[in-house]
Amino acid sequence: MANTVVFGSQWGDEGKGKIVDMLAEKANAIVRFQGGNNAGHTLVVNGETCILHLIPSGILHEGKKCIIGNGVVLDPVVFCKELDHLAARGVDVSPERLMVSNKTHVIMPYHQQMDTARESAKSDSNKIGTTGRGIGPCYEDKMHRCGIRAADLADKELLREKIARALEEKNVLFQHLYGLEPMSADTIFEELLPVAERVVPYLGDVSTAIQEAGNEVLFEGAQGTHLDIDHGTYPFVTSSNTVTGNAACGSGCSPRELERIVAIVKAYTTRVGGGPFPTEQLNEDGDYLQSQGGEFGATTGRKRRCGWLDLVVLRESVRLNGPTELAITKLDVLSGLKEIKLCVAYEYKGETIEYTPQEQNSLAHVKPVYEILPGWDEDITAARSWDDLPANAQAYLHRIEEITGVKVGLVSVGPDRAQTF
Ligand code: GDP
Ligand code: IMO
Ligand code: MG
Repeated sequence: MANTVVFGSQWGDEGKGKIVDMLAEKANAIVRFQGGNNAGHTLVVNGETCILHLIPSGILHEGKKCIIGNGVVLDPVVFCKELDHLAARGVDVSPERLMVSNKTHVIMPYHQQMDTARESAKSDSNKIGTTGRGIGPCYEDKMHRCGIRAADLADKELLREKIARALEEKNVLFQHLYGLEPMSADTIFEELLPVAERVVPYLGDVSTAIQEAGNEVLFEGAQGTHLDIDHGTYPFVTSSNTVTGNAACGSGCSPRELERIVAIVKAYTTRVGGGPFPTEQLNEDGDYLQSQGGEFGATTGRKRRCGWLDLVVLRESVRLNGPTELAITKLDVLSGLKEIKLCVAYEYKGETIEYTPQEQNSLAHVKPVYEILPGWDEDITAARSWDDLPANAQAYLHRIEEITGVKVGLVSVGPDRAQTF
């Protein structure tokens, strides 16, 4: 298998975990390169569901090396819980097959507290609706150059000192801005020690490990392109670069190593949390997609907002990520709809445009222009080839190819690993 990057083309939850699990069979190593346990990647194998937040979605394939890259932010408590959870299912999670980069930044309890304190202080319309996992504050410390890196977990003195230093500033904010109790550096340090001891055996040089895996590496993106810190619907975004360019930077390989690029495209659109969503359907169509698709967040359990496929957003994802193919997921969810709408342009300030306007929050003010395609009634969850699809489903996929200029390489018609062709 060529080195392959899998990325989310919308606002997350496109079904990346399922496709990574499926492609992992042919890879030597599977690498997460950004995000943290804000992600929730669902794998269904032989009817059994497994939700992963941090550990790469290749872990269910025996013997495949799974790697957490430098671009990830790692909550060590969540990491250990995930290890225990997988071990209880009989999955090998030994350091022989699982590695965490020395350079990965560590999410601390004060990052989580800062995340939730900031969100609570915001008015409803300004809330990002973060997952509350401390993702933003941890990336802030990384950029501020005061973060704790995974390698520091092996150095008790340095760890104690860094925690105390971080709290000097954060406790001022907790007490005087947010009206909270200050956090104790000693308590955080003592509670971290046993967890740190468990993480240390997993530390390694990821860049070298990727090189040693040869040209058979699968890079697993988290979140989606329109949650990207630079290219997403800022400020309603996450705090990392989710675009494929970051697969190289967030893992420690050269961009020249990235060959096959797979865009995961949900056959409609969903979004969790705040922020503009032009094709959102606050009506029975949206309710249909939500209930048929089982659209509840895999991390926070929140109901996902639902709407039609937005090809303006998707074309931008194509430009930003350079996919060599599209993987269309959840096509089965559209079965039973009389008509299916595809957003092909926006009306904005009296003009029809085919790109996303760039001013802050301008997506909240566009009006989608729809093309209406006929739906299909057939249950397609047993389809295993292109020819098994009803003509209207084929036409829907062809139209997506035409408008994006990218071929559909994979189709998913159900949550199980086997429901793919
Ligand atoms: P990710 O974050 O991109 O990995 O996606 P999530 O796991 O958060 O959400 C995708 C949801 O859709 C999960 O519950 C999957 O089991 C499910 N899923 C994935 N592909 C399909 C599909 O083709 N059809 C249906 N019905 N469900 C799917
Ligand atoms: P996967 O990998 C969907 C959203 C949150 C919030 C915003 C910022 O499963 O697709 P954060 O906690 O990252 O600071 O929250 O980003 N968000 C996701 N939405 N899927 C995800 O991951 C997400 N990770 C973060 O809901 O709106
Ligand atoms: Mg998810």
